Amino acid sequence: MARSVILGTGSAAPGRVVTNLDLEARLDTSDEWITQRTGIRERRMVEDGGKWSDFMVPACRAALEMAAVAPEELDLIIAGTLTPDMFMPSGGCTLQALLGAKKATGFDVAAACSGFVYGLTIADRFLRADPGMKILVAGGEVISQRLDWEDRTTAVLFGDGGGAAVLTGGEDGERGILSSRIYSDGSLWDLLYLPGGGSQTPYGEGFAKKDNTIQMRGNELFKVAVKSMARACRDALEEAGCGAEDVDLVIPHQANLRIIQTLAGLMKVPMEKVYVNIHKYGNTSAGTIPLALDEAVREGRVQRGSLVLLPVFGGGLTWGAVLLRW
Ligand code: COA
Repeated sequence: MARSVILGTGSAAPGRVVTNLDLEARLDTSDEWITQRTGIRERRMVEDGGKWSDFMVPACRAALEMAAVAPEELDLIIAGTLTPDMFMPSGGCTLQALLGAKKATGFDVAAACSGFVYGLTIADRFLRADPGMKILVAGGEVISQRLDWEDRTTAVLFGDGGGAAVLTGGEDGERGILSSRIYSDGSLWDLLYLPGGGSQTPYGEGFAKKDNTIQMRGNELFKVAVKSMARACRDALEEAGCGAEDVDLVIPHQANLRIIQTLAGLMKVPMEKVYVNIHKYGNTSAGTIPLALDEAVREGRVQRGSLVLLPVFGGGLTWGAVLLRW
């Protein structure tokens, strides 16, 4: 059966490293609390004046280079992000212009942390219909500008960064995306949300700091995240006729090491088969999976024939999983 194949990956993050000790200096928190409760040791953040495309363009270029695809060959650019350079144009259009992808159509997917997995799923559906297409799927955020630096319950969790993958279709055989599942439950929106800037609370007079920063109910989100990702993994594996024991590497959304460990326990997958880089980047929202996938590929943890599972969850709520044979 013809499948959608990832030809190349790339990733990038801003150069400024912010450690837990740096956060101790500005918040009522500690390196010990952050490390024990989340697994995060440091994260990257843009400098003042820094923007999304500063690191997303290099990430996309690296993916194109690995794929040996020129920007002019791209037909479609799907960007998973809630923090593009501007509210309009979309991040997809910004990437199209900056990469020089002249014939590509660009758009964004608003699925918060699930943006990259949603994007892969959409790309897969396009490629099933038109296997000759070349599609760039990107995911990444500048979340640091959307944090309340007086709220220790959210400020310590996130970081900036992202990655990308170039896909095409039509390869016969085992290789490629075997199954992909995406889900939403909008009734759970208030577990994780960014209230301002939409039509309900537009920018302008009376716009409060709370309106421009991430609001979260962490405890509840933790439980829903684990259950929903486990369900999505089960569904994706079932659809492909695989079991969890067949998976060579799980590359999960990097929101919290304890969430990752609990998910691995539920799936009965040993942690040696789970890729973790949250200690270096924190939660980069839609950036976590493409960043981790790219690192895993470049480190040789993902090799030709590897069965790779990508589970995710995020604001919306949204969640899903992609299963692919590398
Ligand atoms: N530093 C020090 N103490 C902190 C703190 C921080 N950064 N943040 C919270 N605390 C305190 C709380 O105030 C609370 O104190 P109290 O017991 O005196 O009331 C205590 O630590 C425990 O807080 P709690 O919220 O129960 O901790 P937790 O074990 O649930 O961990 C999260 C909190 C946020 C790390 C965890 O719930 C989580 O990761 N949830 C999911 C979040 C997520 O994934 N978000 C992104 C989704 S894409």
